[in-house]
Amino acid sequence: LQPSAPDSVMSPIIRKKLMGFVGFANLPNQVHRKSVRKGFQFTAMVVGESGLGKSTLINTLFNTTLYPPKAPLPPSAERPSTVAIESISADIEENGVRLRLTVVDTPGFGDFVNNDECWKPIVENIEARFDSYLEQENRVNRQKIVDNRVHACLYFIQPTGHSLKPIDIEFMRQLHTRVNLIPIIAKADTLTDEEVAEFKARVLADIQYHKIHIFEAPTYENEDEEALAEAKEIMSKIPFAVVGSDKLVKTPDGREVRGRAYPWGVVEVDNEDHCDFVKLRQMLVRTYMEELREYTNDVLYENWRTDKLLSMGVVQDSTVFKEINPAIRIQEERIMHEAKLAKMEAEMKMVFQQKVQEKEAKLKQSEEELYARHREMKEALEKQRLDLEDKKRRIESGRPLTPEKTSTGRKKNFLRGG
Ligand code: GTP
Repeated sequence: LQPSAPDSVMSPIIRKKLMGFVGFANLPNQVHRKSVRKGFQFTAMVVGESGLGKSTLINTLFNTTLYPPKAPLPPSAERPSTVAIESISADIEENGVRLRLTVVDTPGFGDFVNNDECWKPIVENIEARFDSYLEQENRVNRQKIVDNRVHACLYFIQPTGHSLKPIDIEFMRQLHTRVNLIPIIAKADTLTDEEVAEFKARVLADIQYHKIHIFEAPTYENEDEEALAEAKEIMSKIPFAVVGSDKLVKTPDGREVRGRAYPWGVVEVDNEDHCDFVKLRQMLVRTYMEELREYTNDVLYENWRTDKLLSMGVVQDSTVFKEINPAIRIQEERIMHEAKLAKMEAEMKMVFQQKVQEKEAKLKQSEEELYARHREMKEALEKQRLDLEDKKRRIESGRPLTPEKTSTGRKKNFLRGG
């Protein structure tokens, strides 16, 4: 067997009928029991300008006072100059299922005179959470990994009735690859049904135009009709136009509901004819909480992790990630350095040899010149010696010197014995 070949390629799947009860039909129950025992963890981030009802909506969603009522800041109070990131965690339980809920708030977003780059601290915070998860994954002991990654970001859009503001577009563009974005039209009770429908259409058109990816209810091939219809219905409500209220009010017909009471009537939070709160809760909590966690882990975190590891010099081959050992990298660098040195040495040797050859040629030339001069001088002296011997012989034999020879002063001196 080749280890990399998938099983389906190696062995054909044969459908078999069981002769009796084996028991693996109980597997979902085993998973269910285990999950209930372990409990769940979910982190939601809320982003939007101050006063859009973020805290109220979180309290309404989880039916708890996670956020205590806030006293408004006095006009003289010093306001923060950057977006702060605050998180609150609470353990909540429903029918024996425990949920560790963390809400990450971003006070200050969009509240300054200059809101350029106010998305930056939020992106940094989300990436720091990915970093922390990656660091835990790389530990020798990975028994207790704490998952602080943000699984969903509820982005609150001001109910202007116009279209998205530049700050909304910029925020979503910067974050859609890092977090599951869920756009929400805040305080929808301030718009009429018609205005909500028009506003939703414009917001969706903006989102599409800017190629912003928002979280979508997943649909699977072998899903039953009911699940598909539910996903379709939830999707049709995006961006969710919500009303938040954790207070109980009395309706004219005497019911006690969570809602907002106005002189002309009551807006009910949990009434689907009044707002999309129920559908939002269905998406975020009842139906797709696990999908949100899975998409964060399998797609958003995975993409970020790949980018991060590649930027750190970890390379990927066709089938597996192969991390270059630092020792191998140092060895490779050493070999390259040595090759460079050897090349330099060879070049220096060549230059040296060339210089030596040039010097040798010069020396040879001067030697030859010296030799030639020496020969010339020797020949001249030999000639002189022969002349003198000839003269000596003539004098001794008493023959007179030739006149032309006596006429020169030099020869006269010579005859005088000079
Ligand atoms: P910061 O903490 O300053 O960021 O504000 P916030 O966005 O958390 O808003 P908060 O929940 O404190 O609500 C601000 C005000 O809006 C409160 O008076 C709420 O009662 C009110 N409010 C909250 N939700 C809604 C809503 O759906 N409709 C209307 N009309 N008012 C709301």
